[in-house]
Amino acid sequence: MSNGYFCDDYAIGAHLMPIRPQDHFQNNKQVPGLRPNAKNLVEIDDIIDFELLASLNGKSIVSSQQFSRGMIIALSRLAAALETTEVASFHPLDGLIGITAFFEASTRTRLSFESAMLRLDGKVMSIPDGAVSGTAKGETIADIGEMFNAYADIVIMRHTIDDAHNEILRNLRVPLINAGNGTDEHPTQALADWYALLKWRPSLCQKEVDKKDRIHLGIIGTPGAMRTVRSFLTMALEFPQAIDKITIFSEYADPFDESLHSLLEKTNIKLEKGSSLDKHSEEIDVIYINSITFRGGSYHLVDAQFKVNEETNLKKGAVVMHPLARREELATELDSTNHNLYFSQAAGAVYIRQALLISVLGRLNRLPQSINPLSRGQSRK
Ligand code: CP
Repeated sequence: MSNGYFCDDYAIGAHLMPIRPQDHFQNNKQVPGLRPNAKNLVEIDDIIDFELLASLNGKSIVSSQQFSRGMIIALSRLAAALETTEVASFHPLDGLIGITAFFEASTRTRLSFESAMLRLDGKVMSIPDGAVSGTAKGETIADIGEMFNAYADIVIMRHTIDDAHNEILRNLRVPLINAGNGTDEHPTQALADWYALLKWRPSLCQKEVDKKDRIHLGIIGTPGAMRTVRSFLTMALEFPQAIDKITIFSEYADPFDESLHSLLEKTNIKLEKGSSLDKHSEEIDVIYINSITFRGGSYHLVDAQFKVNEETNLKKGAVVMHPLARREELATELDSTNHNLYFSQAAGAVYIRQALLISVLGRLNRLPQSINPLSRGQSRK
């Protein structure tokens, strides 16, 4: 019997210890860096808002602006429950097919989505590179979308062009998840970022966050030119009770574009622009850093003058986040330190993407009752 955390009957053979099949990363003691325990987020408050999660059923996910603070917390709590519970034998995505259509390079996003689907017993078909699709013959994204309707239940797409999701949605009738569109958005990366952050400091979920727990956030990157930074900042604006101040380090005089300016007009979070990381590094609790952006048909480095390495005077207990891939802006020397939250971001992405897929695909009722008390999910080996 499963007690919700340990799958006592999962082991095959008397010599095997009980294992938690969803807990691959925490079982790997060799993984360097800080690895906040997902149980912290499950235990702070037992309630997962399943009604809110059910509202995602059948919805396409194109922008981080679709996620309220309540939704980010609900998805993160579900992700934490998935990370600490044996769910594989419930086959939550049984019979469903996802297409990962990547018209731009990826290591983490495509593979973590595919891992998320496969570990829940969904199936995956992949276009790992646009050059192997009909686009090589001049086929439009809209026409490709019409084909996808017949082949799958959900499409996860990355594209170099900001407007590609609007083009495919002209014909697509199954949900679309935007896995990065040009310099515009990467909403599920921002979910992975906030999941890592909330596991690190679960008190950030509270309606009123104690002064000692509130964070000073330092963002090294240009939100107006980098999709991960834009989406992370957009979600940060949902947490005014948890953030004391945001300092942005950018080589641009104005690091925002028009749409960000109109979002920022509505926030009461204190926002400042920093010129030198050295001046602020001792005060910052969380550094979010990125330097790669895809623009004008190729990759460019932006803000790479700001570097985080062993010489950076980081505050005790401060964490460094990075969506990865990295270049010289983030030194590998930090990998083995407790400042490294970036590997936890990448590992936890599987669970937050599982939480999103289960919600969008309407399979909350296939979860174990230890997670969703109203579920009719049955364990089947
Ligand atoms: N964070 C991220 O989007 O990584 P990939 O480009 O490897 O998917």
